[in-house]
Amino acid sequence: MPRMTTLLQSDDGLLYATLADHLAQAIHSGEVRTGERLPSVRSLATRYHVSISTAVQAYRHLENQRLIEARPKSGYFALRPRVSLPEPTQSKPPQAPRFVTTSTLFVDYIKTFDRPDVVNLGALLPDPTLFPNEKLARILGNVARRQARLAGAYSGGVGEDQLRHAIALRGLENGCRFGAGEVVVTNGCVEALNVCLRAVAKAGDVIALESPTYFIMLQMIESLGMKALEIPTHPRTGISLEAFDLATQKKGAVRALMITPSFSNPLGSLVPEANRRALVQLCEARGIAIIEDDIYGDLHFTGARPLPCKAWDRTGNVLLCSSFSKTLVPGYRLGWAVPGRYFEDVVVLKRIGSVFTAPLTQLAVAEYMESGGFDHQLRKLRKTLSGNADRIGELVAETFPEGTRMTRPEGGYVQWVELPAKINTVDLFYRMRELGIHTSPGALFTSTPRFKNAIRFTLGMEWSRKFEQAIARVGATAIELGK
Ligand SMILES: Cc1ncc(COP(=O)(O)O)c(C=O)c1O
Repeated sequence: MPRMTTLLQSDDGLLYATLADHLAQAIHSGEVRTGERLPSVRSLATRYHVSISTAVQAYRHLENQRLIEARPKSGYFALRPRVSLPEPTQSKPPQAPRFVTTSTLFVDYIKTFDRPDVVNLGALLPDPTLFPNEKLARILGNVARRQARLAGAYSGGVGEDQLRHAIALRGLENGCRFGAGEVVVTNGCVEALNVCLRAVAKAGDVIALESPTYFIMLQMIESLGMKALEIPTHPRTGISLEAFDLATQKKGAVRALMITPSFSNPLGSLVPEANRRALVQLCEARGIAIIEDDIYGDLHFTGARPLPCKAWDRTGNVLLCSSFSKTLVPGYRLGWAVPGRYFEDVVVLKRIGSVFTAPLTQLAVAEYMESGGFDHQLRKLRKTLSGNADRIGELVAETFPEGTRMTRPEGGYVQWVELPAKINTVDLFYRMRELGIHTSPGALFTSTPRFKNAIRFTLGMEWSRKFEQAIARVGATAIELGK
């Protein structure tokens, strides 16, 4: 245990993170040995002059980083630190909003990513074996026989009540109070994001985003003639509250914030609870709508599920979007929006865009959820994703050039790697494409000329030796490009 028990100070109010970092250093340096017991929560709080809840949060944070484990009735114990590279630092995007233009890189990227002959290291296309396809097929067959008439009818635009109810129940478990009547079922999360963005903003409006961000959000902003304002973002704690506060002080400067607070794409960052609450309050006070993408919220590797921002929304200013694409059934294209005070507008936009979402698959998923299988599926999936994060982390540490930095995701589908500045990952993308290996260059995830030395890995594979070989190949090519 670190002997130093100074009073901890934190500039950003994240005292637990400061305490966790302090303990993590002690584990990495060997001051706390593998298998050694850490102080109880109470004595940790006393020693460091912090509250019990700060001490608990610090231990949870270390559990998430897999540096300690809780053993029932015995306390917390130090684990063997994994090989880990330094983390990337907070991004520093330019402060002005800008129009987005789709690059030829994006066009080339989407042409490659679902080719069956490539080894996919980059695109977030989960391996089909990660999902209970057979069970869903049986349920769907049953539903289709029982409700055959549904195939011959137009359905209501907001979705099937049975699924809307299942989604609302799940929301309640995650701290959100919305009724089934507030849910609009969509064709995947992308449609939900699209209709929500169109409901809150118009051409010329400025939309704030994490930086780097999910490229489809940038493309949506481009296609609607809006402007993107990228906000500095930390790979671990997500969007900078201070930077967002500064960027939105002028009334009307920003119309909406599009954000993935839980295990964002491409950084995998997790916005701390205190910051979520603050964001919800700040946006409400300044008339900025929050479009919250919670697609990865169920995929935490350890600890409790993070509560969506929607859990603190009392006025309907948060438009929650999600889907079953990354957790259960990508092929059904089922998502949803809970658009709060923008409900009516979203219903109209959904009708204009796609009229309604196919009802039979909705009913199949609703029955699957009612059968209680979803939690088991999530547990299995989280284990696969976190195991892949460990494997990729170790391989990158072994085979990538010196000076490489890498995130340590606490959930979700991605791992972000920053190579030394002189290695251009767009060149790397084209070199690897010739070898049948698909990578995701950092330049895709911004509207500005940055992240040219970064790549994003997917964690959604069924692990096999071909991934090991492909990662080593990317590492070797990167070393060559850096010479
Ligand atoms: C943050 C985020 N939102 C939405 C999506 C797409 O969701 P869906 O396939 O349900 O439309 C993705 C897919 O990669 C994503 O990363």
